[in-house]
Amino acid sequence: MYNSNGIWVSTAAEDSKDLEKIERPATPPHLRLVATESEQDLSQYVSIPIELLPMEVPLPYSVYVRIGAKLVKFRSLGDTLTHERASGLVKGRVDSVFISRAEWDSMLKAMEGYLAEAEKSSQMTIQQHGENVRSLLVAYQRDMEIKKNMEKVLYERFKTLAERLAQLVIDHPGVANTLIRRYQDHGLYSINHTINVAIYSISIAQKRAVPKSSLRLLSLAALTHNIGNIFIPKEILTKASELTVREKLVLDSHVQHGAKLLTRLGAPQEVILTAQQHHDRMDGKTRPSGGTGPIHQFARIVAIADVFDAMTSPRPHQPIPLTPLKALERMRGMEGKFDPTILNAVGSNGSDDKK
Ligand SMILES: [Fe+2]
Repeated sequence: MYNSNGIWVSTAAEDSKDLEKIERPATPPHLRLVATESEQDLSQYVSIPIELLPMEVPLPYSVYVRIGAKLVKFRSLGDTLTHERASGLVKGRVDSVFISRAEWDSMLKAMEGYLAEAEKSSQMTIQQHGENVRSLLVAYQRDMEIKKNMEKVLYERFKTLAERLAQLVIDHPGVANTLIRRYQDHGLYSINHTINVAIYSISIAQKRAVPKSSLRLLSLAALTHNIGNIFIPKEILTKASELTVREKLVLDSHVQHGAKLLTRLGAPQEVILTAQQHHDRMDGKTRPSGGTGPIHQFARIVAIADVFDAMTSPRPHQPIPLTPLKALERMRGMEGKFDPTILNAVGSNGSDDKK
C-alpha cells in the first residue's frame, strides 16, 4: 500500500518473503511523470544510494524514483527531504534514486562546500564530523563508478579524506566503529566495504604498532584497494552463482587495473602495492598480482580486513553473515592464505571482534 508520503510500503506478506505473489502498484497519480518512456534518455541520469541524499536541508538536485521503466520526479531541487520520507522510500523497497548527471556534478561541489561550512561550526560533534567524512567518501566512490575513472583532483580530495578517517580511528575509535555499515545490495556493499576495510585496517595496524604517519597512508591504501573494480563488468561483479574460469580471471584483473590507475595518479608505492597484492596468498599458491617478491605489509593487513568484512556482511550468497568470532575462526582455518602474525593480532584484545 502507499503511505501518506506516496511511498509504497511493504506489507506483512512481503516481509514473509512471498515477493512473487505481490501485485505491484500502478504509479500513484500524485507522482508527476517527467517524460514519457521514449522521451527519457536514462543515460543522462545516475542512480545513487538513498543514504547519500542530504536530509533536512534543501536538496541540491531533483530526485527521481524509477517506477516501471520510467523515472518519476519525487522531490524538486530546493525541496527538503525529511528522515521520515527517506525511510519511507527504504520501507518501500526503493534502494536507489536517480538524479541528472548535470545536477550530480554540481552537487559534488556543493556538498563539499556545505560540509566544509558545517565543519567550521563549533556545534559539530565528532560523530557528525565522521558522518561527513563518510558521506563524501561514499559520494566520491559513486562518482568514480559513474565516470569509470578517478581524476587527479578527486584523488587529492580522497587522500585528504583518508587522512581524516585515519585520524578519527586513532583519536575516536568508538565513533569510527559507528561508521561501519552493512548492506546486502551490491552497490551499497562495495562502496561501504572499502570504508569498513579502512577502519578495520587502521585498527589492526595500531595493534601491530604501525607508526601514526603510516596509518594515514594505510587508510588511503585500504580505501582504494578495490578501485580497479570500476573497470570490471557489472555482470561479473554482481553474479550470484559461481564464476566461470574466464570470469574469475576477469574479476582477478581488478588488482592490475587498480595498480595501473593508482600509478597514473602518482599514488605512493605502498598504495599501489596494496591494490595489486591484496588477493595474493601468503603461501604463494595464487598471486593475482603476478608478483613473486614479498607481499607488502599493507596488502597483508588489508587482505585480512577485506575478508573479515565480507564474511561478517550479508551478501546474496550468505544472507545471514558470520559472527565476528566465527569469521576469525574460519579465517584462521584458511592455512597459507593470510599472514598468521597479523591475523593472530586481530581480536587479541577484543576490540575488533565485537563489531
Ligand atoms: Fe579485491
